[in-house]
Amino acid sequence: MKHIVIAIDGPAASGKGTLARRLAAAFNLPYLDTGLLYRVVARRVLDHCGDPSDAAMATRQALGLGRIDLERGDLRTPEVDLAASAVASIASVRAALLDFQRDFATSSGAVLDGRDIGTIVFPAADVKLFITATLDVRAERRFAERRAQKVATTLEAVRADLAARDEADRTRKAAPLRPAKDAHVLDTSTLDANRAFAAAADWVNQALAKR
Ligand code: DC
Repeated sequence: MKHIVIAIDGPAASGKGTLARRLAAAFNLPYLDTGLLYRVVARRVLDHCGDPSDAAMATRQALGLGRIDLERGDLRTPEVDLAASAVASIASVRAALLDFQRDFATSSGAVLDGRDIGTIVFPAADVKLFITATLDVRAERRFAERRAQKVATTLEAVRADLAARDEADRTRKAAPLRPAKDAHVLDTSTLDANRAFAAAADWVNQALAKR
């Protein structure tokens, strides 16, 4: 039997990670946060004191990446946020990460979240979701997370950072962030995590019923 692939895309702090983890648990599927791949590439370039916009260096690091790297504890720093955005705009880095993402789903299917899962990585995914929310709502969420982590920042700084990353993700030439034509679009601005999960689980169940 063919295993199910659920592709979830959307901007930062849209709620896609929380939703992806819940769907993976509910449908008994492995979960891959593909943003971590770009973060690992960025981290490895920085470890070598390299420039994240150096395509040859970043591509070498992408080709050498392994599953164990995803468990590093230093992938969510502001320095890595910036460097990950730079390596993610390099087409050869994205190409080098394609096999890893596709292989991840080979044996048992998977839930993957990112920016280009439904458009590029798995264009034939069984279910495609595009999760979004207004910039203000996403900034409030990310600011609350930063406060819980005791990171000193302001709502304005978080909002400006998200707006800059949205712009970079949407306007880059290589795999820009956009919903696949056949994606279900879910705006979580006024939905809590339970209601977002219920809507998404319905779509997954509908796709399963058609198989
Ligand atoms: O979701 P995140 O913030 O952890 O992603 C880190 C960076 O990688 C961010 O700049 C967007 C980019 N990214 C991407 O281009 N494609 C993906 N499939 C996942 C993340």
